[in-house]
Amino acid sequence: MARIVIIGSGIAGLFASLRLADAGHTVTVITKQRPVDSSTNWAQGGIAAILDKTDGVGLESHIADTLASGDGLCDEEVVRRVIEEAGARIRDLLNIGVRFETNEDGEFHFAKEGGHSRRRILHAKDATGREIERALNDAASSHTHITLKPNTLAMDLIQREHQHPERGIAGVWCLNQENNTVFTEPADILMIATGGVGQLWSQTTNPPVATGDGLAMAYRAGAAVKDMAFIQFHPTALAVKSDRPFLITEAMRGEGGVILDDEGLRNWQAAVKDAGNQGSEVAPGPFSFTLNHSSLGSMATRDIVARAIDQRLKETGDQHVYLITSHLDQDHLLEHFPNIQQRLDRHGLMLGRDPLPVSPAAHYIVGGLDVDEFGRPHCRASGSIMPSLYAIGEVACTGMHGANRLASNSLLEAVVYAARAANHIIESMPETNEMDLPEWRADGLKDLTEHVSVSNDRESLCNTMSREVGIVRRFNRLHRASRRLQLLLQEVDFIWRRALPSRQIVELRNLVLVGQLVTEDAEKRVENRGLHYNTDLIQHEEH
Ligand code: FAD
Ligand code: SIN
Repeated sequence: MARIVIIGSGIAGLFASLRLADAGHTVTVITKQRPVDSSTNWAQGGIAAILDKTDGVGLESHIADTLASGDGLCDEEVVRRVIEEAGARIRDLLNIGVRFETNEDGEFHFAKEGGHSRRRILHAKDATGREIERALNDAASSHTHITLKPNTLAMDLIQREHQHPERGIAGVWCLNQENNTVFTEPADILMIATGGVGQLWSQTTNPPVATGDGLAMAYRAGAAVKDMAFIQFHPTALAVKSDRPFLITEAMRGEGGVILDDEGLRNWQAAVKDAGNQGSEVAPGPFSFTLNHSSLGSMATRDIVARAIDQRLKETGDQHVYLITSHLDQDHLLEHFPNIQQRLDRHGLMLGRDPLPVSPAAHYIVGGLDVDEFGRPHCRASGSIMPSLYAIGEVACTGMHGANRLASNSLLEAVVYAARAANHIIESMPETNEMDLPEWRADGLKDLTEHVSVSNDRESLCNTMSREVGIVRRFNRLHRASRRLQLLLQEVDFIWRRALPSRQIVELRNLVLVGQLVTEDAEKRVENRGLHYNTDLIQHEEH
């Protein structure tokens, strides 16, 4: 029986593990903290899907919105196929035990987010990811064919033949964080489902596990990457000093929430006061500066809204803008967004009453490992498929999102590609290929007695990425980032060669490499599309 190893226990890794296990394969799932610790677990808004395959109008409009959001760079065939497959995958999730919101008649409630022309997002109030992770984890942990290995950090892939990525991957070196020992996990099939890279930026909505490990590991093993410059910043992360940037779902704007700056807020409040005297109501929408950037205002796609906020904050010197909900029905908001209200309670803020301070935060990487329709990465040198390797979920770049992902299309893409990759493995009936694998090179390595330099380097990396490779870019800033990252890489490499591995050093090594890949791609781009926006290119375009 082939040994199948999956790195990552978010929606992609767990869904694939269940499909493989149900088909009789034995699967090992390696994950670096608790199984639930993932971006999936923090997903709020939901999963976009047209359930009825015969609803041609519905499918076409989801396709059209995805293509428009992707700003001309989506692979239309990929978009079409993923959206057409959505209904079947949602039924799989329901069968696994995921419970999406329904009304008293048992009909699904659909939410709406920026860039969506209609309501089509299935959700579980404002904690959709938590519900998906709960159901997948319950199913995986009770499945006799699945072994979950928590607190296990995958560090590097092992090539079947050293320096021959085109021959494929034979396993992975892992750090058991419970006893700090390195072990070799052999694999006939290896799936990377390690999620995103948000921890590269100081302000991120992502959980601590999102450090780009799988991307970096596969790149070092010879895999090709694509579209790395397209980093999505979510426009509305709660911006209070004492807390991390906690996401305020875009579905809040789908229910009527509006983004205002200080001036807009003052003007709107004055207008409400005036109108109050005359007994009429004034909506905040027309007071939003976002209207200067799109006629859709606060409901434009994320690239546009995040950039509009970034520009406004730079003009005013303010730390945040506001998400306004006080014109909306408070009971309705509390019913639909209890998880967010719970977080706001910490700060004495109330939905339907207070302006919520928000600013953009790094949220999602559109680019990633360049994969085919089954999630198989290409080899960087030869362009051929790397045998025995799969990459699914946020770590992969399938062509679905183009230059900017449409809200709530990520969970959908992850589940569709997890199923495709698993089906491909099941159909190709892999065999076990016992071979001697090299042991981890531990000789002469010493415990890193102090981690201060590693944490300083990580802070410096995040500062560089935030300042120089953020929402709005310039060539000279990108070049400066590149030089700094090169120095950091040398520094990290120096430690890596001498110290016994720890989670801190493994993650820093990966983050620096991913930072370089993002910056390099941004430096090479000669046009502004979707999430990549370089002001030097605008001046160039204007001349
Ligand atoms: P993840 O869910 O991130 O899982 C990655 C797994 O890999 C984790 O278990 C992690 O511990 C493990 N891992 C990583 N590195 C290693 C390593 N070296 N060794 C071992 N294990 C490792 N998308 C939507 O479509 N709808 C939404 O409503 C939505 N809301 C979001 C809200 C937030 C706050 C965030 C952060 C993201 C949101 N997204 C949403 C994006 C979406 O959640 C992610 O893109 C998606 O969950 C990624 O799934 P995944 O399985 O690829 O990775
Ligand atoms: C949100 O709920 O706003 C996040 C949705 C997403 O990232 O797709």
